[in-house]
Amino acid sequence: MSDKSNQMQDLRGDFVQKEKSEQKLDEQENCELKQALKSSHTQWWDVRCLVPVSNTDGDVSDEIWDEQTRIAAEKGIREAALLLQAGETVAFPTETVYGLGADARSTKAVETVFAAKGRPSDNPLIVHISDADQLEGLVAEINDTARALMNMFWPGPLTLVLPVVPQALSSRVTAGLDTVGVRMPDHPIALRLIAEAGCPLAAPSANRSGRPSPTLAQHVREDLEGRIGGILDGGPTGVGLESTVVQAGDDGTVTILRPGGVTAEQLAAVARAVVLDPALTVTPGEDADSPAPRSPGMKYTHYAPRGRLSVVQGPSSVEVTGWIRAALAEASARGERTAVLAFDEHAAGYAGERVYTLGKLDALHEAAQRLYGVLRRCDEDGVTYILSESCPPKGLGDAVMNRLLKAAGHRIVRL
Ligand code: TXA
Ligand code: MG
Repeated sequence: MSDKSNQMQDLRGDFVQKEKSEQKLDEQENCELKQALKSSHTQWWDVRCLVPVSNTDGDVSDEIWDEQTRIAAEKGIREAALLLQAGETVAFPTETVYGLGADARSTKAVETVFAAKGRPSDNPLIVHISDADQLEGLVAEINDTARALMNMFWPGPLTLVLPVVPQALSSRVTAGLDTVGVRMPDHPIALRLIAEAGCPLAAPSANRSGRPSPTLAQHVREDLEGRIGGILDGGPTGVGLESTVVQAGDDGTVTILRPGGVTAEQLAAVARAVVLDPALTVTPGEDADSPAPRSPGMKYTHYAPRGRLSVVQGPSSVEVTGWIRAALAEASARGERTAVLAFDEHAAGYAGERVYTLGKLDALHEAAQRLYGVLRRCDEDGVTYILSESCPPKGLGDAVMNRLLKAAGHRIVRL
């Protein structure tokens, strides 16, 4: 070997040595950081500066965050990812609601999620990925329709139920089913966190079971402070209701197991046919022979405020408003603290009442964004008797009515 190539060899050796010791230092640092993070209370990282905000015209805000804020936010994401790698739980924003993430391969981590939420163990968790490559080794088969749905709606509020590869995930994630719900969220923080953690994240909504899902990091704190490793605050979520959960048949039929952010009308653009899981259209308790829902979570009462909520439906808005006003007056007279959930178009009809507006009836994305926050407000304000208007179950109205009826324990007043 020439002198020159000897020198090169030595240099390369030094370099490899240096790289190895740096790697060791990094590992040691990460290990120490993991220990430090693990031993403390629920961490809070403000990462709002990493979320582009668009104004009503759809233009991305040019709000200038200072460099320090950005550096701190970047560090926050790295720390959150380390916490996840250490088997802890971290709440993070998605475009639907905040999720409570854990390494989907670790039974211990996933059990922490169930414990923190007080979630029934027969209710499987959705697995979140940041790259379609992560499907390999995770799901056994993706038929043409499922593939077309992914192409059309990912990243986005659509969860696909697919056959799971045995042993790819903790069996606690799938609750023993041979399928797994997978989605790729459309949120910069969620995508970066999953990529940085380097593992698929099992993440149910980050609320205590039965409470409204969180649309603000503050909601997560109210429900789970001290019970989870950390919270990434990315500001308010966009859609406000959870993802649509679907199963795609080999014949091109798409079955909706839970209505959500992607509407039946949007799915119809890809599917040969769109059908609702029959269990979604029956009122629990009304029919003893009713089928069990294919999405196990749909059988639980959910999102319920502490006060007694009923949904009012009638032939005209005038009749609904009149009936609600009279019922609220009667309830107040017997000492109830009352409130009404109303659409903007009708809010003026409830002058003098405690009104929480759901936005415009002809812009139901507003009701989707506001519903959970409003249900939480009812609790904060100590309201005991609540009546809500309803909307047509079309487009996003389908998901809004699904959640509203569940929050009301299916108490409907039909005029
Ligand atoms: O938007 C969302 O989907 C949010 C965010 C955080 O991504 N997540 C969410 O997760 O809503 P969770 O756990 O609150 O609701 C998951 C729903 C439940 O109704 C569950 O039964 C259903 O998805 N699900 C999960 N895996 C399933 C499977 N293999 N088969 C049928 N349903 C499944
Ligand atoms: Mg949930």
